[in-house]
Amino acid sequence: MFGWMYSDPKGTEGMGRKSSLSARREIGCSEMEFLWATYKYRARHGILSAIARIMGASAAAGLHVVVERPCASSPGRMFKSRTAFWRINLKGASQGLANSSSIFSIRSPCERYPSKFCRVVTRALSGESEKRTAYGLPIDLRGKRAFIAGVADDNGYGWAIAKALAAAGAEILVGTWVPALNIFETSLRRGKFDESRRLPNGSLMHIAKVYPLDAVYDTPEDVPEDVKTNKRYAGSSNWTVKEVAESVKNDFGSIDILVHSLANAPEVTKPLLETSRRGYLAAISASSYSFVSLLQHFLPIMNPGGATVSLTYIASERTIPGYGGGMSSAKAALESDTGVLAFEAGRKGQIRVNTISAGPLGSRAAKAIGFIEKMIDYSYSNAPLQKELLADEVGNTAAFLVSPLASAVTGSVVYVDNGLNTMGLAIDSRSLATQN
Ligand SMILES: NC(=O)c1ccc[n+]([C@@H]2O[C@H](COP(=O)([O-])OP(=O)(O)OC[C@H]3O[C@@H](n4cnc5c(N)ncnc54)[C@H](O)[C@@H]3O)[C@@H](O)[C@H]2O)c1
Repeated sequence: MFGWMYSDPKGTEGMGRKSSLSARREIGCSEMEFLWATYKYRARHGILSAIARIMGASAAAGLHVVVERPCASSPGRMFKSRTAFWRINLKGASQGLANSSSIFSIRSPCERYPSKFCRVVTRALSGESEKRTAYGLPIDLRGKRAFIAGVADDNGYGWAIAKALAAAGAEILVGTWVPALNIFETSLRRGKFDESRRLPNGSLMHIAKVYPLDAVYDTPEDVPEDVKTNKRYAGSSNWTVKEVAESVKNDFGSIDILVHSLANAPEVTKPLLETSRRGYLAAISASSYSFVSLLQHFLPIMNPGGATVSLTYIASERTIPGYGGGMSSAKAALESDTGVLAFEAGRKGQIRVNTISAGPLGSRAAKAIGFIEKMIDYSYSNAPLQKELLADEVGNTAAFLVSPLASAVTGSVVYVDNGLNTMGLAIDSRSLATQN
């Protein structure tokens, strides 16, 4: 399978020259040979025959070829062709292209400066990718490896994201908060999650490895004595962010996808006005700096073209009384950091960074806030889409965001909340009922 573009014969367009090189290598001809064949056959038989001749050998693999020729009346000035655009489907029609799935479409040549501004774009699809596109536009994460931080049961968004990525073919590694590790691993082992591990194809999601993690600590030196000696941490090792990244590197070499699905705030039930400095900073540390730290330590082992996703909540930008203890501030920081990190990780490692602003879900963490059921009811009554919000819907959006289908999406806050974020009025408000 290959794709290439041939541009200005002098090779003044770097991209065209580079791509034509790989294309010529693929079909095994020199640049002169390629040019000569194009000109000679175009003159005698038209551009289609010329391309068909030199591509003949590769045609059996199945091709999609587009020949495009912008025109110029003078150098440096480009016009649309005056002759009509036409598209020829050679499905099974060309002798030179034996494969029946080959498709050519051709944009007509211009009359002036034909050689100088000749531009040929060719794409070849393997039989397999053609088969895939025939069924739509699938999310394909086969060959990708994901590390999902913040999975400790089968109720939360982290689990749903893991399942969606697994369903798309990714290999799954998870990072589980140390105090929750034991029960999570035991439940996994005993088959407690088997029903919810089931993927659309009937198989069970396989978790290649569960890593103990406490995302509040970056290195072993940061861990205070009382935590080191805490019995909930006994029996686990190498769980600071730096150590986990190192372990993943030793075990698997690299990852493609990093998911941050964790949050914690010891004073979450307190209004901001009553939140202590310690509580506020703990919320920021666990819920937003933890993402900075994870990306910092995992970036060196992320393959270029990789992507990250975190989870945020509308309380970052609108006031949600009760989402306290600095959690609203932590989510605001997380969203702001998404833009900055998108720039930095994009430039440094070609990594995309996005966050999903999810609607309310009755997860373990959300239950700690104390009024999650009311938030779910509120959303049902007031969101544009009056339906239950499924964790899978967030999972599917995450799968899209980390897939090549979202290759130009980075630095974004993507709302997956049945549209609740767009509303400025609670339509079930008692005040409205009184007015009516
Ligand atoms: N549930 C909701 O209504 C909702 C809405 C919007 C956004 N979110 C966000 O979704 C993300 C996932 O939360 P969830 O609601 O699915 O609940 P969850 O309980 O499934 O996930 C939170 C996870 O964070 C882990 N965790 C806590 N402190 C940690 C630490 N120091 N190191 C490592 N892991 C730690 C917990 O063990 C847990 O697994 C969070 O960022 C949350 O704020 C949730």
